[in-house]
Amino acid sequence: MPQLDFMGNVSPERIRTFRAGIRAHYRKHGRKMPWRETRDPYRILVSEVMLQQTQVDRVRAKYVEFLAAFPDLSALAGAPLERVLALWQGLGYNRRALALSRAARLLVARGGEVPRDHEALVALPGIGAATAGAIRAFAFEEPVVFIETNIRRVFLDAFFPGRSDVADAELLPLVAATLDWRRPREWYYALMDFGAALARRGENPNRRSRDYVRQSPFSGSDRQVRGAILRALVRGNVLAAGALASAVGAEPQRVRRLLGKMEREGFVRRSGGRYGIADGEGTA
Ligand code: ADE
Repeated sequence: MPQLDFMGNVSPERIRTFRAGIRAHYRKHGRKMPWRETRDPYRILVSEVMLQQTQVDRVRAKYVEFLAAFPDLSALAGAPLERVLALWQGLGYNRRALALSRAARLLVARGGEVPRDHEALVALPGIGAATAGAIRAFAFEEPVVFIETNIRRVFLDAFFPGRSDVADAELLPLVAATLDWRRPREWYYALMDFGAALARRGENPNRRSRDYVRQSPFSGSDRQVRGAILRALVRGNVLAAGALASAVGAEPQRVRRLLGKMEREGFVRRSGGRYGIADGEGTA
């Protein structure tokens, strides 16, 4: 039976069987996660930023530790960037920690609430359409239509078998057509758990996506050296570029180039020829 008719529409029957399959899987294999036990928008924001590009198992312990240190928006906004980065170690992609710290400061300056609407969310640093959608569904039970990596896998597998180069724009109408408008929070948990199970099964349907962004190799990358630089500095150290290069085992020229970028971004600041962690206010 074709998955879609010539207009790209799905039949009501197909929607029913799809939903039933996702729900049955969730009843049997639904995963418990600490951020699924709360509706606190701040906690959900923290979890969703941590979950960007990072495996659930790596996030679990960090999430608990991070929230013990910064239990609410004002605690995070008031924390020095250095502490936020120190707690972030192990999650990777330190840009997310910087963005989260900046987002918290912006929100506290504007009244201290995590916004509920799409435009205000995506205007914050570190929050794109997928994270905004997840926050709206999980914190506010808003029937939003969004795609992230697990959801993408589910729709590619169910409705586009054998097709490659499928754009998210083709998936979105199906996400909308199958959405549980009354209980989007649980529905999206179920979709994500089904998508995560598909990833463990073998062939990754996301290879057939036009919009899926693969992670670039970490070993030998600028990202790896930048991570090592921050780790060397978050212990309160203030070091010259040459000393930092030795500490991280990279060429001084490369370390200087990266430090220049990291200074503009607001990660580090230079004072008297030495580098330390900045206060998070950057220009790039
Ligand atoms: N549950 C809530 N948010 C999630 C996410 N981003 N990935 C997997 N499971 C989740």
